[in-house]
Amino acid sequence: MSNPVLTAVAWPYANGPRHIGHVSGFGVPSDVFSRYMRMAGRKVLMVSGTDEHGTPILVQADAEGATPRETADKYTRQIAGDLAGLGLSYDLFTRTTTGNHYKVTQDLFLGLWKNGYVIPKTQLGAISPSTGRTLPDRYIEGTCPICGYDSARGDQCDNCGNQLDPADLKNPRSKINGETPVFVETEHLFLDLPSFAGALGEYLASRADWRPNVLKFSQNLLDDLRPRAITRDLDWGVPIPLDGWRDMPMKRFYVWFDAVIGYLSASVEWARRSGDDDAWQEFWTNPDAQSYYFMGKDNIVFHSLIWPSLLLGHNGAGDKGGEPGPFGTLNLPTEVVSSEFLKMSGAKFSTSRGTVIYVEDFLREFGPDALRYFISVGGPETQDVDFTWEEFVRRINFELANEWGNLVNRSISMAHKNVGAIPRPTAPTAADEELKALSRAAFGVVGDNLRRSRFKQAVGEAMRVVGAANKYISDQEPWKRKDDPERRDTILHTALQVVQDANTLLTPFLPHAAQKVHEALGGTGVWAAQPELREVEDLDVAGRINPILTGDYAAEQARWESTPIEVGRPLHKPTPLFAKLEPKLGETGPEWAPIGA
Ligand code: MF3
Ligand code: ZN
Repeated sequence: MSNPVLTAVAWPYANGPRHIGHVSGFGVPSDVFSRYMRMAGRKVLMVSGTDEHGTPILVQADAEGATPRETADKYTRQIAGDLAGLGLSYDLFTRTTTGNHYKVTQDLFLGLWKNGYVIPKTQLGAISPSTGRTLPDRYIEGTCPICGYDSARGDQCDNCGNQLDPADLKNPRSKINGETPVFVETEHLFLDLPSFAGALGEYLASRADWRPNVLKFSQNLLDDLRPRAITRDLDWGVPIPLDGWRDMPMKRFYVWFDAVIGYLSASVEWARRSGDDDAWQEFWTNPDAQSYYFMGKDNIVFHSLIWPSLLLGHNGAGDKGGEPGPFGTLNLPTEVVSSEFLKMSGAKFSTSRGTVIYVEDFLREFGPDALRYFISVGGPETQDVDFTWEEFVRRINFELANEWGNLVNRSISMAHKNVGAIPRPTAPTAADEELKALSRAAFGVVGDNLRRSRFKQAVGEAMRVVGAANKYISDQEPWKRKDDPERRDTILHTALQVVQDANTLLTPFLPHAAQKVHEALGGTGVWAAQPELREVEDLDVAGRINPILTGDYAAEQARWESTPIEVGRPLHKPTPLFAKLEPKLGETGPEWAPIGA
């Protein structure tokens, strides 16, 4: 049961601060999952970083009058800060502009190339007729051939989300001066996707336990696999390590090609930083290791088809055969776990439309666990969800504060006032035993749900224990037992034991609150560990400093089991766990994201 687990988290673009829609897709679910797996005794490697190449970064850099590197440097720091603030427990959160990432990307590519899965072909590329220069994809606009949206970009349609080729656009025009680009032949490298059709079909057929929408979507695409360009006419990206290509200033790998390889490169970087260069292999070439990939639904195809194809090609396991590449035989994803979208009044969260709630603002006002709870219980796990302040206020006030906060507060306060320490139980009654049995049994149920990424169900089951404990206290009325202190202490002991259990069950969701409850129960040391932001030197480029997230999670005490509380441990008067929100917030929203603006 102790197969190592790789948690592979989608890489946010370093083109701006993250909003709560982003972190509801890749952030909170992946962290809840990893924290649970660690508590259950599994060895976990959780990796990601910022995605810093491609059009998204170039467009933002243009808008800021900065270089792509300056833009990426600025936002990688900001994003790493936001993710640390949310308590996302990455073993390594890095970036795609490290020397290590360039090298791993090129090595993996060479594996594919040697096995014959990459074909050079000429394609049509746009040039500006008035200057004769290459017109990058991001400067071409036109009508989407798939959905008809009239402002689709050359590389992607923001309306239907499909990846495009500029030559596919109807009525293409230059965003710089409106002229119609001319298309000329330019050479590119293509991944031979059709040669993986058989292997991909078999792979997907063996994934019956994936979320049905993810599996169906991926299987539908199998019928129409075409070679796909993995290079672009750009000067920002990972250079192509082939003679004749290496030194071309305008040929780079396509951003999605290098980004998915980030999962492997970040694992390699983590190993190198740990002092054991081969430590990544346990998570990648060990057939018993499992790997779970977390993302929003617009990323599915890259994880369920493209990334498996790159792995198969590197392993020499497509129709053309071949030898395992420089990394050995790499595991394909055990599961691609995709969320739907968190929307605001129907619109997908969009920076351009002004309906944005930034993580940083949210954390400053409400703290991390309120957002983590909201996303876990009411997030877009299997369908799009409309974020409303009203729902947020209701969940925080009536569930977190009234149910969980109140249970912790009243049970510890009563024990503190009457005994000053964890009380000693005597003869337990059937009601006591029943409640304790319920909370012990929840470890199995909640754990099963977490293992399968059923977060909503999992947190609901944990909150059922909280509800049962509140009812138990109301029924048992320990405050009326002045003349029977033994019974009173037994009730309070039972309540505190169930607080301890519920706190353990809620730790993956609410790690910051869990640490406080641990201390309120008289515990010391780290119960739930948090990530740290560090500035480190690039392992391969002397003098370049990168912000990373990492952490010492092995040192945390939280285990996925009922741990007996210690009779006689001194208790202090507790402080409230969650502040209640003003009901008015549900009608107006906060000042920095007012409703109706
Ligand atoms: N940057 C992409 C996005 O925000 C996600 C990249 S995920 C990875 O949509 F697979 F490329 F890593
Ligand atoms: Zn479209």
